[in-house]
Amino acid sequence: MKDDTVGIDSISFHIPRLYVDLLGEFSEVRSQQSGETLDKLRGKIQQGIGVEWMTIADFHEDAVTMAAMAAWKLIEEHKISLDDIGLIAVGTETTVDQSKSLAAYVLGMLERKRGTRASHIGCPQFQFACMGATYALESALACLLSGTLARKYAIVIATDIAKYPLMTPGEYTQGAGAVAMLLTKNPRLLVINPRVIGTATRDERDFFRPNFSKAAVVDGKYSIDVYLNTVEEALNDYLKKAELVPQDFYHNNNHFLFHVPFPRMGEYAAARFFGRLWSHDDILKGYLDPALWSGINSVLTGEKRRSIERDLAKSPFFRDQFALKVAPSLALGRKIGNIYSGSLFLALISLLYESELAGHDVAQESVVWTSYGSGASAKVFTGRFTDRWREGYSRQEVYQQITPQAAGGRRLKVNLATYENLHESSETSLVRADAGRVQTGPAFPSTILAAQSPLKDTDFLVSLDGPQRSVGEKFQEFSLERLGTENSKNVVDVGYRYYEWVE
Ligand code: CAA
Repeated sequence: MKDDTVGIDSISFHIPRLYVDLLGEFSEVRSQQSGETLDKLRGKIQQGIGVEWMTIADFHEDAVTMAAMAAWKLIEEHKISLDDIGLIAVGTETTVDQSKSLAAYVLGMLERKRGTRASHIGCPQFQFACMGATYALESALACLLSGTLARKYAIVIATDIAKYPLMTPGEYTQGAGAVAMLLTKNPRLLVINPRVIGTATRDERDFFRPNFSKAAVVDGKYSIDVYLNTVEEALNDYLKKAELVPQDFYHNNNHFLFHVPFPRMGEYAAARFFGRLWSHDDILKGYLDPALWSGINSVLTGEKRRSIERDLAKSPFFRDQFALKVAPSLALGRKIGNIYSGSLFLALISLLYESELAGHDVAQESVVWTSYGSGASAKVFTGRFTDRWREGYSRQEVYQQITPQAAGGRRLKVNLATYENLHESSETSLVRADAGRVQTGPAFPSTILAAQSPLKDTDFLVSLDGPQRSVGEKFQEFSLERLGTENSKNVVDVGYRYYEWVE
């Protein structure tokens, strides 16, 4: 048994049960509202963006419940004791607290469920838009390699709710979900090379979520350019560090996983990578139209470059290579939507699931990971599947989660009105201080937070309403039950989040 490799021993994920069928009532109503024809909008969503359904969090679900569910499934399925875990690191851009680490909430939930304490586990939270979990992964692998972890396993969780304002182009690229990975030496699923990681970072405004907003502020087309330029810089950095020529990097790797805010972005990214890598290989160049080829080779940026890359993506040779090296990793995203920091890791689960369905054995095949986080940073690294990869994930669990209830799974379709209500609802609200509703003490669900004294007529206060009654029935899951409201001599918990396991 070799002990000098590190990587992913097993992986699991959790998505909320509720989903919207984007091609049904959603498209009908939005096309009427926007003046686009129904066919045009459906075509854009299904082919242009690449999605069909999008996952929606219920009232009792947030980034914490999803993270805890993904971690719980992981340790239950693989019978992992909390004693053997040295680190639970969470990457998210949907944090629930400006101070407390989301991972500490998760630890508490796992401890209560197992009826044991595990205070030795470090629980940091990493933030860098969609790639916080990649920074967490890099750090956890380093801890495992150096020996500072002092336990057998580290868990990295990526958890997020992707949210944009209603009736904006970002709306059909929303989603929700978490992925949890068990990391160890001599892993069963996939060995990662932590010694060569290409990195690029630039101070950008492509996509961000200011503290006052629950939805992201995004400059859509610009965000695509920043994504492509940053991942290309990370690729260049990787090639330099690995001392590899581009064509070898292309030939050596069987699968390319990208950050997938929407499946079509995987195609844009593949066109950028493949164009860049093929430009050094006379044989590969021979498959392309020379006119296209000279365009790729010239130094172009922005829309001009993307236009050439779109043409490249239409070429038969690209379509073949894309179908082999990228497409299987995009399948789950079509039915789930954007899960931000987890989307790269969901792409891995998608590749495993699709490979098994197709009867394809990925053992000893190599994988390129390309992580991207707006604002902006990217990383490129590689891994290789082991012979025991099938033990590292549950095909049955994937099927259950992505399949509607009517077909034997657990998903529940909601109509547009329910989705919009969930989208616009908040567990807190602003009320006028002069509305005469100020209360003190534990009068949940409608206590007013911390009245400033003396109140002015124009003061607005935060009302801690807590989660509303859930749309779906809660079943064997962690749930946000209430927000703390007490500000007394004995307890101060105003705004604290109370989670429970619901049988
Ligand atoms: N049939 C087939 N294709 C169609 C079509 C039809 N009827 N109608 C349009 N299309 C195609 C368009 O031609 C276009 O494809 P090409 O790029 O090949 O030309 C594609 O559908 C999209 O069309 P638009 O550009 O008109 O789409 P849009 O205005 O809805 O905007 C978007 C798309 C910018 C991605 C928008 O959804 C958005 O802002 N999303 C959120 C931001 C985002 O995800 N950015 C990605 C990079 S940032 C990141 O990755 C971090 C993260 O997770 C957010």
